[in-house]
Order: sequence, then structure tokens, then C-alpha cells
Amino acid sequence: MRVALVTGGTRGIGRAIALQLLSEQFKVAIVGTRSQEEITDLLGEFRKYQHFLYIQGNIGYKEDRMRIIDTVIKHFGRIDVLVNNAGVAPLQRLDILETTEENFDYVMSINLKGTFFLTQTAVNAMLKSINDNVSDYHPVIINISSISAYTSSPNRPEYCISKAGISMMTKLFADRLATYGIPVFEIRPGIMETDMTATVKEKYDKLIENGITPIKRWGTPQDVANLVSLLCSNKLTFSTGDVFNVDGGYHIQRL
Ligand SMILES: NC(=O)c1ccc[n+]([C@@H]2O[C@H](COP(=O)([O-])OP(=O)(O)OC[C@H]3O[C@@H](n4cnc5c(N)ncnc54)[C@H](OP(=O)(O)O)[C@@H]3O)[C@@H](O)[C@H]2O)c1
Repeated sequence: MRVALVTGGTRGIGRAIALQLLSEQFKVAIVGTRSQEEITDLLGEFRKYQHFLYIQGNIGYKEDRMRIIDTVIKHFGRIDVLVNNAGVAPLQRLDILETTEENFDYVMSINLKGTFFLTQTAVNAMLKSINDNVSDYHPVIINISSISAYTSSPNRPEYCISKAGISMMTKLFADRLATYGIPVFEIRPGIMETDMTATVKEKYDKLIENGITPIKRWGTPQDVANLVSLLCSNKLTFSTGDVFNVDGGYHIQRL
């Protein structure tokens, strides 16, 4: 069975991705910052799957990143699919002229630095599986960025910068890993209905109603999970470094 590691799978987009892959017979490990006891209810739906593993860890910390990868390898023996989904908004939305180093470091250490070095560690495990000729092994890396990778929101600059960084990170790993047959893809979700956007729901409700997206609705975590399913299907045989928009057409420049 193929093995997927999904960071931030306890809620929102990551949760839908993890459940989708479990339903497709993957063994799945998810990562979240809270203890199992704190999220007993959230994990309930996962428990009906035999090959599920919850790892408590913060991808912003080096020791945790090492432990996360070690735990997946010890438990499942390999990592076929890495979905870099965990991400945070700034502690406070502050204007670019006022934001703090604390805000900046918090977002960057998780969204960009954490994701970068977790990927580096996971890739080394993938290369070992390739060297060991593990059977039916088709590794793939999927990075969840955002429309914020190219859309300016001056009231959360660190978030936008972190997501622009994920876009370049995708290209860099795609370039470097092509020789090993490891494709790397970027998914750019648009306005998605999750806890992350709960505080700005009214604002986005209005924007959607007024036509900010050609497809006039909120995106759902399942919209992203459906694309992840496709990207893990091994059907994209001559592609890497591609960007996939899941944004209701938000990226189309319109007049
Ligand atoms: N919602 C949107 O509109 C939207 C749009 C574009 C892109 N995105 C991106 O999509 C991804 C998922 O967003 P979401 O809306 O599903 O977010 P969410 O509902 O806030 O969930 C975030 C997930 O990440 C985990 N997490 C947070 N910090 C972590 C850390 N330091 N280490 C490990 N796990 C951590 C959380 O787990 P615990 O809480 O259990 O720790 C949770 O499972 C993010 O990268 C986000 O930037 C979201």
C-alpha cells in the first residue's frame, strides 16, 4: 500500500485530503500541533481506517520535523506522497507598515522554513526507498500554497511572502528531483471555507456575491482533495513543477 504524509490534517483542507487518500487505500499519517487527547473528537472519523497514524508535532521545530519523518518511516516503512498543507495566518492581521518581527517569524517559520526543511528530510527518505528498489514506488510531493502567492494583501504581508516562497520552493524541488522521478506540484486554493477564513467570512461572502470569482461560491476542502487525488494517480507522466488553481477561476484576469 502507498503511504501519504499530510501535514495539518486535523482540520480544513488537510483533513479532507487525508480522508480522501484513506478512502483510496493509502496508509495515511497526519500532523497537528495538539495532543491526541485534545482532539479525540476530531480524530473520530479517522479511526474507522486501520492504516491511520496521528503525529503530534510542530513543523516549525527542527526536532519535531525529524521525529515526524522518522515516525512515518518506522510505522509505515516509506513515504510515497508528501502533502505540505500545514499553514498559519499571522497572529494578528497587521498592515505592512506596522507588522512585527514576531508576526513575520511566526508565519515564515511554519509556512516556509518548516515546509522547506520538512520536505528536505522527507526527500532523503524517498531517495532511500528509490535506492532500496521499494516495489510500486512512485513518489510525489504536493505543496499547498495560495492565491496569496501572487495576490497582494498588505494587511498580512508575511502570509503572502510565505506563499510566494512556496511557489519558488516548488520549482526548486521540481527541478532538483526530476532526475529521480519525483514530481513536485503546487496547488493554489482560493477562498476556501475553513477555520482559517472564519474570522473574515462576512467580508468574503460579500466579495463572492459581488463576483470576485467567476464561479460564485466558496471553495471547499473537498475541492482541493479531489485534485490531490488526481495528482497522486500517477497519470501525469511528463509533468513537474506545475501550478494547479483551485480558486473558482479567481486567477483569470478580467475586464
Ligand atoms: N482557507 C483558505 O481560504 C486557504 C486559501 C488558500 C490556501 N490555504 C492554505 O491551505 C492550507 C490549509 O489551510 P486551512 O484553511 O485548512 O487551515 P486550518 O483550517 O487553519 O487548518 C490548519 C491545519 O494546519 C495544522 N497546523 C497549523 N500549524 C501547524 C504547525 N506548526 N505544525 C503542524 N501542523 C500545523 C493545524 O493543526 P492543529 O490545529 O491541530 O495544530 C490544522 O490541521 C494552509 O497552508 C493555508 O495557508 C487556505
